[in-house]
Amino acid sequence: MTRILRTVTETRAAIAELAARAGAEPDKARLALVPTMGALHDGHRALIRLARERAEIVIVSIFVNPLQFAPDEDLDRYPRTPEADLAVLEAEGVHAAFMPAVAEMYPDLEHVTTVSAGEAGRILEGEYRPTHFDGVLTVVAKLFNIIRPDIAVFGEKDAQQLALVRRMVRDLDFPLEIVAHPIVREADGLARSSRNAYLGEEERGIALTLKRALDAVEAAAPRGRDDAIAAGRAVYDAQALASMDYLELVDAATFAPIDDTFAGEALALTAARIGTTRLIDNRPVAMRH
Ligand code: PAF
Repeated sequence: MTRILRTVTETRAAIAELAARAGAEPDKARLALVPTMGALHDGHRALIRLARERAEIVIVSIFVNPLQFAPDEDLDRYPRTPEADLAVLEAEGVHAAFMPAVAEMYPDLEHVTTVSAGEAGRILEGEYRPTHFDGVLTVVAKLFNIIRPDIAVFGEKDAQQLALVRRMVRDLDFPLEIVAHPIVREADGLARSSRNAYLGEEERGIALTLKRALDAVEAAAPRGRDDAIAAGRAVYDAQALASMDYLELVDAATFAPIDDTFAGEALALTAARIGTTRLIDNRPVAMRH
C-alpha cells in the first residue's frame, strides 16, 4: 500500500518507520527518491522500476513546482492526475508518495531562497526558459533535504536538468548518488513526456520531427558538427508546423558546445514547439568516428 505524505514532518516520521521495518539491518536499508511532477507515464514507470532494483525503500514525489514555470508557461494547465498516479505507484510497489501542497513547500513563495544553476543554466533550455533551472534545482535540493535519499533517479530526456542536478550534488555536497535512466520512447520513437498529452492527432504526427531531426544529426555526425547541425535543421525547415527553438551539439562529458573539429562522444539536443506544446529530445552521437 502506497502511503500518501503531505507534510515535511509526517514524511520524515514515515521514512524513519519505513526504514525500521525494512529488514534485519534497518540502518542499511537504501532509500531511493524518484522526483516527478505527476501525470505519470511509462517513462516514470521505468524510473520507478530502476529505483526498486537499487533500493529497499522507494518514495516518489509528485509536485508541480511553480518555481520552474515562467508566468507565460503552462503551470495552470500542466496535467494533474493524482488518482491515476496513485494507481501507478500502487501497481509498482512504491512505498510512499510525497505530494505536498505549494504552501508546504514554499511558505513564502515570493521571497524564497533559491539555488542558482549559473551559466550552464542559461544555455540551451535556459536561453528559452531563463528561470527554469533555478526553479528545478531549488525544488530538487528541497526534496533531497526533506527525504534524504541514498539515490535519486532522473530520466535522460531532461539531459540538461540531469547534468545540472549532478553538478549541484557535487558542488553542494549532497550525500547521495544520482542514477540516470535512458529515454523511454513510444513505438514510433517519440520520447515519452507528460506534455505529449497536449498534442492533438495531427500534432502527434508532427511531434516526430524532433526525433527525425536527431536521426539526421546522427547520420551526418561523421562529417562533423556543422554538417550534422545543417542536416538536422533541414528536417525542421521541411516541416512548417514544427517550430524549432534550438538544435545543438554539446560535449557529452562537459555539456560545453563543440566546434566542427570535435571528435568523440557528443549529445545532440533539440527543443521545438508543435502548436502551443513545447517538446524536447536528445541523442548521444559519436562525432567524426
Ligand atoms: O523532471 C521533472 O519532472 C521536474 O523537473 C522535477 C525534477 C520533478 C523537478 O520539479
